[in-house]
Amino acid sequence: MKEYKKIRILGTSDLYFVYKLLKVMRNPKTKFDGKEFAKKGEDYLFNYVDKNLGGVDESRRNFLKGLVFGVAAATVIGIIPGLRVLVPPVQSVTGFPKTILLTASGTPLKASQIPVNSPITMVFEYPLSGEPNFLINLGDASGKPVEIPPTTVTIPQTGKTYQFPGGVGPNKSIVAYSAVCQHLGCTPPYIHFYPPQYTTPSQVTAAEPNELSAAALIAARSAHIPAVIHCDCHGSTYDPYHGASVLTGPTVRPLPAVILEWDSSNDYLYALGAVGVATYPEGSNGVPSQDPREDLDESQFGSPVGTSSKISEINTFGSS
Ligand code: FES
Repeated sequence: MKEYKKIRILGTSDLYFVYKLLKVMRNPKTKFDGKEFAKKGEDYLFNYVDKNLGGVDESRRNFLKGLVFGVAAATVIGIIPGLRVLVPPVQSVTGFPKTILLTASGTPLKASQIPVNSPITMVFEYPLSGEPNFLINLGDASGKPVEIPPTTVTIPQTGKTYQFPGGVGPNKSIVAYSAVCQHLGCTPPYIHFYPPQYTTPSQVTAAEPNELSAAALIAARSAHIPAVIHCDCHGSTYDPYHGASVLTGPTVRPLPAVILEWDSSNDYLYALGAVGVATYPEGSNGVPSQDPREDLDESQFGSPVGTSSKISEINTFGSS
């Protein structure tokens, strides 16, 4: 929490610069020498940035000074407190509310009300307003619900893995994933679920937001899955049957999954938390946030949805 407060001193417009800086710092070829930095201080940092990221102008110099002000630890990450939260970690977010999902009219949504392979995208906000998530009842090519088992999901960006808990509901076929593309943050309608009837060659020539890239189609066929989540912004594709893992880039991160709970006594559904690296919609400069903890700050990103969240429906295909 302390780190979270510190990151707030960073201007939003500098986030992309910091992200690039961290990348070169971690690259073995351009590795940042923490000992040299401890010895030479900001001069070493300015030279390092000059060499690896281009010239340091006055405002960037002041920004870097702000970053190192008052720090004294011996390692790179340690000497720049707050930067750690910009490194996409494997997240298992705790502290999110238990939120019941409601229909648009405000009554508890029942699992039986979610059509299998629906072309109408169901979205709910969680944990904050403005943070959309898909709710999908997955089926096979013939429309029969498919049980989604727990899956180990790999993050291509880091090679690290996390555990997706699997589907819920009477058939264990209901899943929920962030509806924010992990490439650059596009949201529905540009990113949405393509049910089996739309994961087809004819979709390759469809107009936005329903175009499906040939690469996405080939990837789906190779993975033996009948449906995908696809983003029309730049063509990223995710596998909804396996934790929204990455099928095609440019994304290098899977869609985070919302942990769901199904109450078999009344058929109600609840959101409990999230797993996976998170990239959420961001501020005016369009740089996505990469830390779910930032998203808990309502002053910047929205209000907590609290104990209930209503479903909205987006009909991109124009059919039901
Ligand atoms: S934002 Fe989705 S592919 Fe780029």
